[in-house]
Amino acid sequence: MPQPLTASRSARISGRVRVPGDKSISHRALILGALATGRTRITGLLEAEDVMATAGAVMALGAEVTHNDGVFEVLGQGVGGLRAPRGPLDFGNSGTSSRLMLGVVAGHDIRVEFTGDASLCHRPMGRVLRPLTTMGLQVEGEGETFPLAVRGTLDILPIAYDLPVPSAQVKSSILLAGLHAPGRTTVVEPLATRDHTERMLAFFGAELKVEDRADGTRAVTVCGDAELAGARFAVPGDPSSAAFIVAAALICPGSEVVIENVLMNPTRTGFFETLREMGADVALLDLRDEGGEPVGDLRVKAGALKGVRVPPGRAPSMIDEYPVLAVVAAFAEGETRMEGLAELKVKESDRLAATAAGLEACGVVAHVEGDDLIVEGTGTVKGGGRVETHMDHRIAMAFLTLGLGAEEPVTVDDVGMIATSFPGFAGLMTELGASLA
Ligand code: S3P
Repeated sequence: MPQPLTASRSARISGRVRVPGDKSISHRALILGALATGRTRITGLLEAEDVMATAGAVMALGAEVTHNDGVFEVLGQGVGGLRAPRGPLDFGNSGTSSRLMLGVVAGHDIRVEFTGDASLCHRPMGRVLRPLTTMGLQVEGEGETFPLAVRGTLDILPIAYDLPVPSAQVKSSILLAGLHAPGRTTVVEPLATRDHTERMLAFFGAELKVEDRADGTRAVTVCGDAELAGARFAVPGDPSSAAFIVAAALICPGSEVVIENVLMNPTRTGFFETLREMGADVALLDLRDEGGEPVGDLRVKAGALKGVRVPPGRAPSMIDEYPVLAVVAAFAEGETRMEGLAELKVKESDRLAATAAGLEACGVVAHVEGDDLIVEGTGTVKGGGRVETHMDHRIAMAFLTLGLGAEEPVTVDDVGMIATSFPGFAGLMTELGASLA
């Protein structure tokens, strides 16, 4: 049953909070823990549906995962040590989990059926299946969408692969398969995407080389027949979840919030950089290093914003933040032009279309030109719309955020999917002063 929710104008957003653990890092900590030898101890893991799908998958493949008092422990089986599951692996809504696990399965002599919810079953898997098949993965049938069955092999081959799209999921999937291969596997990305797999592989003891090339591309090489050692890992707060709180604080007059312990990896901070260009007061306090990742506290104060051009090269560093950036842009003065957003069309929903439609439903002038999204900001937003979320957690949270600053309440048709990445979103926002009912 769909669960609608309505956001109404909120006086001010204030307080000091933490957001749940980073989703990308949480998936990877469980996966590398399962491939390591010995125990991996993870604190701060995101306890949301997408990450639990990864935990379920590694358990079905033979790794032990236990959870006590906020601490997850994974008893790894060593690289190549996983076994065939008893039934299909259901990844729910999670593209990251399923694509990374395709890479893991590729290096094992097992047959695995992959499936997911209606959104995941529409998402393109060819982008990972193509390189993985070159490495030796066999795919049953012609399909490039779930449900599908694959068979991995112990004779997986190393490859050198130029990514046709800037995708950390595809890069990571190939690197994970490459752990099992004899020799070196290299992935060249056209633009640097989030590098958590690389950082964490090094942290678990894999041999890895990263080369930033003069032409702007980045080459990542992993040495195969790898051995990973179980590690202790603290997952920092998710900047993609913090983004909604930051946006709410910017558009509700008089607001001031501090969000502690947020991941500040430069491959993830494009949203905050863009907000500063818009004139936003977003300060980074106490930048520090935790478990190989930069972490800091964000202090945000409401204030006037202006429209900006967001260049296509920035897209990978804020790919999940465009819906909420578009919402902030609606409250700015002037046009915001977000360029090069083709990848948004293949997320949990077609986020380019869903964002433009949601803005229009709320009285904002917005349109899509090719792969660009243009929002005409006037400083105020009428609201009053009912927004369709298309099984997409970030569309739901972005438009609830819009409702907090709009003149009239905004209803989103279903908030059920928010549990995939940010359980407790509504409660946390309400604590900070948001009006959600
Ligand atoms: C992710 C990579 C991105 C992002 C997703 C998480 C990851 O997807 O949108 O939410 O953890 O690797 P793409 O790699 O498909 O761009």
